Amino acid sequence: MELPSLLGRQQIPLVGIDISSTAIKLLELNRVGKGGKSYRVETYAVETLPFNVVEDKNIKDVEVVGEAMQRAVKRSRIKTDRAAVAVAGAAVITKTVQMPTGLSDSEMEATLELEAEQYIPYPMDEVSLDFEVIGPSENNPEEEVDVLLAASKNDIVEDRIAILEMAGLKAKVVDIEMFALENAFTLLAQNDPEIDSNDVIALIDIGATSTSFSVLNDLKIVYTREQAFGGNQLTEQIQHRYGLSYEEASMAKRLGQLPEDYETELLEPFKEAIAQEVSRAVQYYYSSSTSGNIAHTVIAGGCASIPNIVEQITHKIGGHVTLANPFASMSVSSKVNKKGLMNDAPALMIACGLALRSFDLPK
Ligand SMILES: Nc1ncnc2c1ncn2[C@@H]1O[C@H](COP(=O)(O)OP(=O)(O)OP(=O)(O)O)[C@@H](O)[C@H]1O
Ligand SMILES: [Mg+2]
Repeated sequence: MELPSLLGRQQIPLVGIDISSTAIKLLELNRVGKGGKSYRVETYAVETLPFNVVEDKNIKDVEVVGEAMQRAVKRSRIKTDRAAVAVAGAAVITKTVQMPTGLSDSEMEATLELEAEQYIPYPMDEVSLDFEVIGPSENNPEEEVDVLLAASKNDIVEDRIAILEMAGLKAKVVDIEMFALENAFTLLAQNDPEIDSNDVIALIDIGATSTSFSVLNDLKIVYTREQAFGGNQLTEQIQHRYGLSYEEASMAKRLGQLPEDYETELLEPFKEAIAQEVSRAVQYYYSSSTSGNIAHTVIAGGCASIPNIVEQITHKIGGHVTLANPFASMSVSSKVNKKGLMNDAPALMIACGLALRSFDLPK
């Protein structure tokens, strides 16, 4: 049963679930403090997935991922069965379009469906559409509004819903990864005195298989580029050099339990490769975009947890570089392993952006 909040603000608990290429990342937040102004981490789990069951954001084996989801739910003992998940990748398209002002929701929907056909390379009956009115258009504010159109292939959404259902969860929000990232970053930036929200900020998520380089202006993503680079390259080298399985190598790498020559032979060159990759992404941004000079760079993703990686990147690109910690301004429930959470924090940006959606659902 849901009770109306005493503050007049109805809170709908929602667990944020990021299904990434290496793990299911689950996070539940709660509003606490005077007037519910701050957040507390109630529970979280990172349940590792076997190699390649999620590839390029596509779920290759729904069964296996569903079983991992069951384990994550069981371990974390979440208090709700309502979840927010995200879709991403080539089968997800977003576009800002202009529409006449004063249309009703149903008129807007009908017009957008026709409009969408131009942008979406799939038959319309295989696609789910959603839209959000952003506000008056800059060029014609009297007569037009900007509308954000989001479309995703149905099977991408259906796979995620099926996986949640296997663990007894209901998908209440299906977001787009980029917006979840933006959402988490907004909270992070607003609470970090070193970051000026009006500045141009780069957010670099260095994951296992991919690195995304986004630039935000006024806390909105204005540029984004993905590269096939990530921690799996180091994992593979560890596997070959020391004759370990993917699972063993991943574990040893996280715990730093590897032979003495690991640091000089594999880790240091990999850290240099990361710095090089970041530097190239920055140069590419400057050569292809006019969104302004980057004032601050924030590093997220699992590879951000590699010791001294921020220093190495700073050395390469200069300027102001920091580590993404979406929980910096939050308290943490005593049931949560705080040390583990802090180590995983940079990799939990998307899960955090999704968990935050609990607090902006319609009443
Ligand atoms: N403490 C650590 N030291 C070194 N590497 C780490 C550490 N923690 C995590 N990693 C590495 O970070 C990577 C996982 O990062 P992350 O969780 O951001 O990836 P992902 O979101 O699953 O991948 P992708 O975004 O490519 O789908 C793995 O390669 C993992 O080995
Ligand atoms: Mg990721």
